[in-house]
Amino acid sequence: MSVMNVGLAGLDLRAEIERLRKERNAVILAHYYQVPEIQDLADFVGDSLDLSRKAAETDAEVIAFCGVRFMAEVAKILSPEKTVVLPDMAAGCSLEDSCPPEQFARFRAAHPDHIAITYINCSAAVKSHSDIIVTSSSAEKILSQLPMDQKIIFAPDKNLGAYFNRKTGRDMLLWPGACIVHEAFSETELLKLKLLHPGAPVAAHPECPAYILDHSDYVGSTRGILDYVLAAPEQTFIVATEPHIIHQMEKAAPHKLFIGAPGADGNCNCNMCPYMALNSVEKLYLALRDLQPRIELDEETRLAAKRPLDRMLQMASATVGQGDLGSARVTGD
Ligand code: 13P
Ligand code: SF4
Repeated sequence: MSVMNVGLAGLDLRAEIERLRKERNAVILAHYYQVPEIQDLADFVGDSLDLSRKAAETDAEVIAFCGVRFMAEVAKILSPEKTVVLPDMAAGCSLEDSCPPEQFARFRAAHPDHIAITYINCSAAVKSHSDIIVTSSSAEKILSQLPMDQKIIFAPDKNLGAYFNRKTGRDMLLWPGACIVHEAFSETELLKLKLLHPGAPVAAHPECPAYILDHSDYVGSTRGILDYVLAAPEQTFIVATEPHIIHQMEKAAPHKLFIGAPGADGNCNCNMCPYMALNSVEKLYLALRDLQPRIELDEETRLAAKRPLDRMLQMASATVGQGDLGSARVTGD
């Protein structure tokens, strides 16, 4: 339904969201790829690991999740007693789409000697067929706790998996999925931009293909990229991830210049996540008002998806050495 049809004209949406946040005992969580107006309204802005931890810890009764569906699902998996709303239920993810649960289950069954390490960007059903969930900020630490001879399926992001294969010396079997946003960056355009800004470090997300990461000075999660550009002494940075994160960079370091890495046509617009863009302040207001659209999961799937997520939260906080956790297989199948 168009927001124009529901009588929102004239409403002070910020004030209304503030009122509903209190009335509903709600917390608003936002990913760095949300539009600035949403980031500025949120109680907490973070990367996927930060947001999972917040979702698990909050004592709010309602979580309004400004991100994409798999993120809101994680909140529901970890906090089933809470009402979790997503401003637009159509906010999916190309990585999730690339990994249908039935195909993934068949692939797993065909490799019984492998464990499945799955990137958090997937459906609850795929999580339920996985042994350990990882985010880009937790994957390396989690892999470091597994024996080097452990056979691993890594799904669904082939670029992220290839990056961690290179970084850790493993040979994980990669599911052939990719993020449409990070695949849109152009090596040629990036090299042209580097020539225009000599000395400007490139900070990239590991969902980018190797031909972008090979030209990068820093590779990490959205939060990692943010921390890097704020701490580095340089004044100009090229940012190879979804450009809405630049909002937090400009707020924290207004004296620095942050340039979004270009796509094939030299125009950054193709690097904006079309799924994240479905959320809006109006839809956030409606979600808090109506407590819809709401994430619902059947209990069997939720519990099966929770095991590998709990494993991630445990291993991401652990101080143990390589192999200390022994067998990582936690699925019942
Ligand atoms: P992180 O925020 O964990 O780096 O994830 C990036 C992303 O693409 C989320 O969809
Ligand atoms: Fe999915 Fe890529 Fe959008 Fe993240 S940026 S939600 S990985 S499509």
